[in-house]
Amino acid sequence: MSETSSSEAWAMQIARSGDYSVFEKVSMPRKAPGPGEVAIDVKACGVNFADVLMRMGLYPEAPKAPFVPGYEVAGTVAAVGEGVTAHKPGDRVMAATYFGGYASYAVAAEDKVLPLPEHLSFEEGASLLVNFMTAWVALHEMARVRKGDHVLIHGIAGGVGLSALQIAKNAGCVVYGTAGSAEKLDYAKARGMDYGINHRKSDFVTDIRLNVGRRPLDVILDPIGGDNLAKGRKLLKPTGKIIVFGMAKAVDGARPNKIKSLLVGLKMFHINLLSLFAQNHGVFGLNVLRLWPFDIMRSVGEAILQAFEAREFETVVDKTFPLEQAGEAHRYLRERKNTGKVVLTV
Ligand SMILES: NC(=O)c1ccc[n+]([C@@H]2O[C@H](COP(=O)([O-])OP(=O)(O)OC[C@H]3O[C@@H](n4cnc5c(N)ncnc54)[C@H](OP(=O)(O)O)[C@@H]3O)[C@@H](O)[C@H]2O)c1
Repeated sequence: MSETSSSEAWAMQIARSGDYSVFEKVSMPRKAPGPGEVAIDVKACGVNFADVLMRMGLYPEAPKAPFVPGYEVAGTVAAVGEGVTAHKPGDRVMAATYFGGYASYAVAAEDKVLPLPEHLSFEEGASLLVNFMTAWVALHEMARVRKGDHVLIHGIAGGVGLSALQIAKNAGCVVYGTAGSAEKLDYAKARGMDYGINHRKSDFVTDIRLNVGRRPLDVILDPIGGDNLAKGRKLLKPTGKIIVFGMAKAVDGARPNKIKSLLVGLKMFHINLLSLFAQNHGVFGLNVLRLWPFDIMRSVGEAILQAFEAREFETVVDKTFPLEQAGEAHRYLRERKNTGKVVLTV
């Protein structure tokens, strides 16, 4: 193993399920990277909506508390394990960590570590992997979008939403988006969105039917869940597809709970195979976390890296918080204040 520095590391762990106060700062050993692993001195880590759900105890795949959340980091390589050839101590990198990213030091598998393009800051590097990988898999690997496709992106001003907007426009699609404020829609419009709907002011099905057409859509990206899915299908052309990748509706309202999220989940049973058969529709379920171990993520990561190096895409960091203020960062996301990504800095 080759190494540059040593001292104690620290992390912000979720001590138990609960509100913004359940984070606690803990020290942790700097675990040496094993064979095929890369240790990183973390400078920034991305905050994802899933982190908020797991803090609330609503994310089944999260480890049992206490645990350190954090899917993605950017920083410098501290040490590399046996057999690692692609990275060396001191390199600027970004990495998918699975969990454990809310920390000053993290260890990732070599194939989940990518060089950080020179023109990107650490904050930007920590903001893009989950968003762009999710959006890329949805649009290119699942929907297989083509030039001229009409694509609706729900939550278009969020981290995944703004990434999907760029990927879809880059592929020559006509992009529709929903968001909860005029400011968010203006922002997406300035970045290429063709048609926006403020879901607090109008129903997206009624709006699109009135102003665009009865069934204009080829693809819908839906992280909202519940009855949004059955509604969206009313706008899909034959051979249209919905990519389902979240259940934000489960945490609508001030006091979300497990029963409510179960009810939102139950509404998602409304899509049945016979009706897909009758209408020539397709539904994909997307869970990027479960794709991490598969080869596809390597090629997706490389495609995204190339596009960033060619400056085809930009990542939008809305706000940064010191890592110690992870709870405040969660509050900001949960209150839907963000346009783009929220990042923690070390
Ligand atoms: N399955 C996967 O692999 C995967 C991977 C990444 C992300 N996701 C999901 O994709 C979604 C977007 O993730 P993100 O990290 O980009 O989050 P984000 O930046 O917080 O964006 C989410 C957007 O969804 C909208 N929203 C609608 N209903 C909401 C609710 N009840 N609570 C909060 N926001 C709500 C909000 O926009 P408005 O206020 O404008 O409505 C918000 O800006 C999340 O649901 C997340 O769980 C899934």
